[in-house]
Amino acid sequence: MDQFRKFSLVFLMFVAHTATQPAPTSLLTPPWTHCVNQMHALPDRWLGFTSPNYPNGITTQTQCSWIITANPGFKVRISYQKMNLTGSKYNCYTQYVEIIDIRAGSSQGKDCGAARPKDYVSQGTKLRIDLKADTAAANHQGFSIKFRATRDPRSGYKNNFAFTVVQRSPGRRRRPGSTGAAAPSTGGGSSVGGRVNLSLRNRIRNTQSNRPANPARSPGRRPATGTTASPLFRPNTV
Ligand SMILES: *[C@@H]1O[C@H](CO)[C@@H](O)[C@H](O)[C@H]1NC(C)=O
Ligand SMILES: *[C@@H]1O[C@H](CO)[C@@H](O)[C@H](O)[C@H]1NC(C)=O
Repeated sequence: MDQFRKFSLVFLMFVAHTATQPAPTSLLTPPWTHCVNQMHALPDRWLGFTSPNYPNGITTQTQCSWIITANPGFKVRISYQKMNLTGSKYNCYTQYVEIIDIRAGSSQGKDCGAARPKDYVSQGTKLRIDLKADTAAANHQGFSIKFRATRDPRSGYKNNFAFTVVQRSPGRRRRPGSTGAAAPSTGGGSSVGGRVNLSLRNRIRNTQSNRPANPARSPGRRPATGTTASPLFRPNTV
C-alpha cells in the first residue's frame, strides 16, 4: 500500500511536470517581435499598416517602427482607423504608439487606450511611428493606421479625421475593423535597415505619457524642400 502511494505520487508529479511544459513547437515562436518597416507615402492614395497580429491583439513583447517618407515638397499625414491598446490617454504604461517627427527631431506624444487619436501631419517629408508594447493581459486588438502624402501647409495634430473625406472606389465599402487596402502587416519580424533600441523598452514602465502641450497650435512651417514634386506624382488636391 505504501509502495502504491509512493508510485501514485511520483506518477502525479510526472503528469504535472509534463502538463506544464510548453509544446516543442512554441519554441519556434519567440515571445517578442521586432520590426522596422520603410514605406513611401503617395499623394493620391491612402496606404496603411497595422500592429502585428491585428486585429487579434498584441501577444508578444513588441517594438516596431514604421518610417514613412513622402517626396520632396510633400508631408506625411497619418490617420488612425482603429485604435485599441491597453491604458488610457496620459496613462500609457504597457502599450503605446509614439509619433516621431523627423524634422522636428522629437516625439510628438504617445497614444494608447481605445480612443481614436487625431490625425497628424509631419513638418518635413518623414515621420516615424513606433509601437512599444508589453504583452497585454486583455486581448486588445491593436491599431490600424492609414497614411498619404499631402501638401497641407500646416503641421501637427488635426481635429478632423482625414479618412472621412476620402473618395473610395464604388462598391467597396470599408467595414469597421477591416484593414481595407492596408499593406500586409510585416510585423512578423522583418527588419529593414535598422534596429530598435532595446533599452527603450525599459522606459515603458517608468515613463508616463508626455504629449507636449498641443504642438498642433504652433503656426505651420512651410516645406523646406521647395515645391518641385516628382513627375511621378500628380498634384495633391487635399
Ligand atoms: C477594446 O478592446 C477591449 C478588449 O478586447 C474591448 O472590451 C473594447 O470594447 C474595445 N474598445 C473599442 C473601442 O474597440
Ligand atoms: C538607446 O536609448 C537610450 C535611452 O534613450 C540611450 O541612452 C542610448 O544611447 C540609446 N542607444 C542607442 C544605440 O541608440
